[in-house]
Amino acid sequence: MSIVDGHSADAVAQAADVLAAGGLVGFATETVYGLGARADQDAAVAGIYQAKGRPADHPLIVHVATLDDAAWFGNLDSPAAQRLAQHLWPGPLTLIVPRRPGMAEAAAGGQGSIGLRMPSHPVAQALLRAARARGVRGVAAPSANRFGRVSPTTAAHVAAEFGPGLLVLDGGACEVGIESAIVDCSRAQPALLRPGQLDRTRLERLLGGPLAEPGHDAPRASGTLASHYAPDATVRLMDTQALKAALEVLRGAPAPKGLAVYSRSVRRAPPGIEWRVMPEHADQVAHELFSVLRDLDERGARLIWVETPPPGASWDGVRDRLSRAAAA
Ligand code: TXA
Ligand code: MG
Repeated sequence: MSIVDGHSADAVAQAADVLAAGGLVGFATETVYGLGARADQDAAVAGIYQAKGRPADHPLIVHVATLDDAAWFGNLDSPAAQRLAQHLWPGPLTLIVPRRPGMAEAAAGGQGSIGLRMPSHPVAQALLRAARARGVRGVAAPSANRFGRVSPTTAAHVAAEFGPGLLVLDGGACEVGIESAIVDCSRAQPALLRPGQLDRTRLERLLGGPLAEPGHDAPRASGTLASHYAPDATVRLMDTQALKAALEVLRGAPAPKGLAVYSRSVRRAPPGIEWRVMPEHADQVAHELFSVLRDLDERGARLIWVETPPPGASWDGVRDRLSRAAAA
């Protein structure tokens, strides 16, 4: 069995051995599951690109156990990086900072900057510390899904993506459920490249100033491609009125085959439609979102009508993932 208990010290040691030897490991974090390789060996990192089917110039996030290790790979001296790292690490935040020359070249996709993250999940922490004890200072890890697909939030999702050959450290269902927020601190004004559970309002309050929009010259970021995070089924975002009207049209007629609905306001399912009630709070939706999309795929959904999330910064992360899924 490729899935092992991430809370077992033996399993963590086994996974750290695989990493130290240049192999790949799937592991739980608080955001989504990662597909890790040691960041300091280009050949190990190449294994990630190959397994994911991801273009090799797309930079990966390097995960670290300590601030010292973060500073080994990148320069976190800017006031924004200092402040965010101090207040929000360990946690669901990635910082893009200037890369130290010669460090993790392949993991950074050859760019002059590097994405760094200190995850808070105990399984991720245990793995990073065990790897560190074997001389591995950072673990490059994208989300453990094939390129363009929905990120995995359980160990079973990872096994479904990569099969039984991959060792996966199980840490349960990811609490956050969507990928980390990414703040680019490598330029004059920090910019929000990807919202996560941490939204713009919270980050700006902490920084005491506005975050820039990602510019035209923003670094390549696959999570920022218009179509990403897509299930097999087609996702259509609909506002409350449009969704109600569309369901009204279906009343009395046989439901179209493979139709699913994920909605806050419409809480009663007409017969023949696969139905999920969207929770009230953005954090709850983020927690279950990718699981719901995968589950609907498995149940044969071909078309998913999703009610547009309400306005407000706290929904930015969910809105971002849904609009990318809908653009696929
Ligand atoms: O929550 C997460 O961030 C998860 C877990 C496993 O930590 N990881 C994750 O990785 O979402 P990935 O590869 O699926 O998305 C990382 C994003 C990509 O859009 C990538 O292009 C961007 O981070 N990124 C990484 N390094 C960068 C850099 N130096 N400059 C700009 N963007 C960067
Ligand atoms: Mg990803």
